[in-house]
Amino acid sequence: MAARTVPAGKRMNLADYLTAGQNRIEQILDALCPPDSETPATIHRAMRYSLFAGGKRIRPLLCIEAARAIRDDVTGVEPAACSLEMIHTYSLIHDDLPALDNDDFRRGKPTNHKVFGEAMAILAGDALLTLAFQTLAQLDGCPAEVRIRLVGELASASGTVNGMIGGQVADIEGERQTPTRELLAYIHQAKTGALLRASLRMGAIWAGATAAQLGALTDYGEHIGLAFQIVDDLLDVEESSAALGKTAGKDATQGKITFPAVYGLERSHRMADDECA
Ligand code: IPE
Ligand code: IPE
Ligand code: MG
Ligand code: MG
Ligand code: MG
Repeated sequence: MAARTVPAGKRMNLADYLTAGQNRIEQILDALCPPDSETPATIHRAMRYSLFAGGKRIRPLLCIEAARAIRDDVTGVEPAACSLEMIHTYSLIHDDLPALDNDDFRRGKPTNHKVFGEAMAILAGDALLTLAFQTLAQLDGCPAEVRIRLVGELASASGTVNGMIGGQVADIEGERQTPTRELLAYIHQAKTGALLRASLRMGAIWAGATAAQLGALTDYGEHIGLAFQIVDDLLDVEESSAALGKTAGKDATQGKITFPAVYGLERSHRMADDECA
């Protein structure tokens, strides 16, 4: 793919770029999610509690940048990018439930079920999942056939066959299984990699990428998707709960199949670096 350059006057450093992008994504999410005051208020408060708890917004940012790699004007891609953050936030709310990872902290705050109770946390996850597809169906200025492709991409990346839910099933069942390299690779590619890969693919599809451009961005997405979960596993071992905003050291306690558990810390660091090279 031909490299695109940004004019010198328009360049900003990475930290400023991330902050500006995160702020823009927050604004769009705010416009897309029903307000707290909307009936029934509890579910909207629960959705907003997790949606605005301070996520890094990596998936929507990747989606927007993939679109920008294809064409200059990406006006209108943001709601599609936000649909990924809705799915991601739903997956985290459910991941933290007592029946799954049983976590008390997320994004530096008590988990959704700790504040709103399990029933409302399950429903808040369901509601964000539903809102993601409503958002794609209603994308302004996007031809119907492109909207259908985006819905298909997000659904398969979130689904049971090599998608997020499939990966979560293997992650939970893996707590009682012998860790193998094959199972580890499957869990990570499915539970985390699929949505990161879809983030790039959806930006590219929205922007009208050719098959070759889509292939290149898919390939990139697969590598960073795997690197991302290797790093998440490493952080669980090496960082403090305060720095992570979630409980550190839980993977080993729960017998999760992780990169450090299968390959050790040093080799996992090298493998994450290799995926980013
Ligand atoms: C955490 O994802 C869970 C994984 C899928 C590894 P992020 O690290 O992107 O979490 P937030 O959105 O920034 O909180
Ligand atoms: C979560 O993986 C993946 C999804 C939510 C799909 P983890 O269970 O490792 O994520 P954290 O460490 O709780 O953020
Ligand atoms: Mg989990
Ligand atoms: Mg977890
Ligand atoms: Mg983790």
